[in-house]
Amino acid sequence: MAPRHAPATARNREAILEVLAAVLPETGLLLEVASGTGEHAAYMAPRLGGGISWQPTDGSAEALADIDAHARASGCERIRPALRLDASADRWPVARADAILCCNMIHIAPWSAAEGLFAGAARVLAGDGAPLVLYGPFRRDGRHTATSNAEFDASLQARDPAWGIRCLDQQVEPLARRHGFHLAAVRPMPANNLTAIFRVAGECESISITC
Ligand SMILES: C[S@@+](CC[C@H](N)C(=O)[O-])C[C@H]1O[C@@H](n2cnc3c(N)ncnc32)[C@H](O)[C@@H]1O
Repeated sequence: MAPRHAPATARNREAILEVLAAVLPETGLLLEVASGTGEHAAYMAPRLGGGISWQPTDGSAEALADIDAHARASGCERIRPALRLDASADRWPVARADAILCCNMIHIAPWSAAEGLFAGAARVLAGDGAPLVLYGPFRRDGRHTATSNAEFDASLQARDPAWGIRCLDQQVEPLARRHGFHLAAVRPMPANNLTAIFRVAGECESISITC
């Protein structure tokens, strides 16, 4: 059977790739949480520097075959076989990573997935400054940034009241800080989305504002 396609990945992949190329180290492992169809990995991994290995994962067991099929079709040997990873679980199947990418998950999952994402990222990310790149729609200062996002939010909550577009400053950033991350940058993206780049805070940032 042909692997599933997510047409939106073709519209946002260049913008996300540009961010990744700017924030990733020259070498290391990029852990992708909630890879979905795996088309982001298949498109971006071959276009990143040869020192980057890409570990796709998803919480859904059914997604893994799609991810592996797209990876095979890309011909890129730096994409590892997909693993099942539930962001909200206390244990992840990857012990160490140099960067994490998570696109379009935290609004299509209960809040516990966002909590688990930051808790897990704090466990596995190696070293001060390691990036967690979060892409998707967000509210800012409690408000939607576009009418289309407000409509999307209503449709998400109609499907599942535990889902919904999260507020970057009032929900996500405080959560990140509790897990030792700081919000390093926010980039506007196509179709009223944002990329938020969190980084593991150095000792000075996490324990004192004066040093
Ligand atoms: C809208 S899709 C996004 C997929 C891909 N990142 C993209 O942007 O096209 C949301 C994905 O999140 C996954 N997901 C939902 N809850 C999750 C969790 N707790 N842990 C890991 N993945 C989860 C779903 O299985 C689905 O593949």
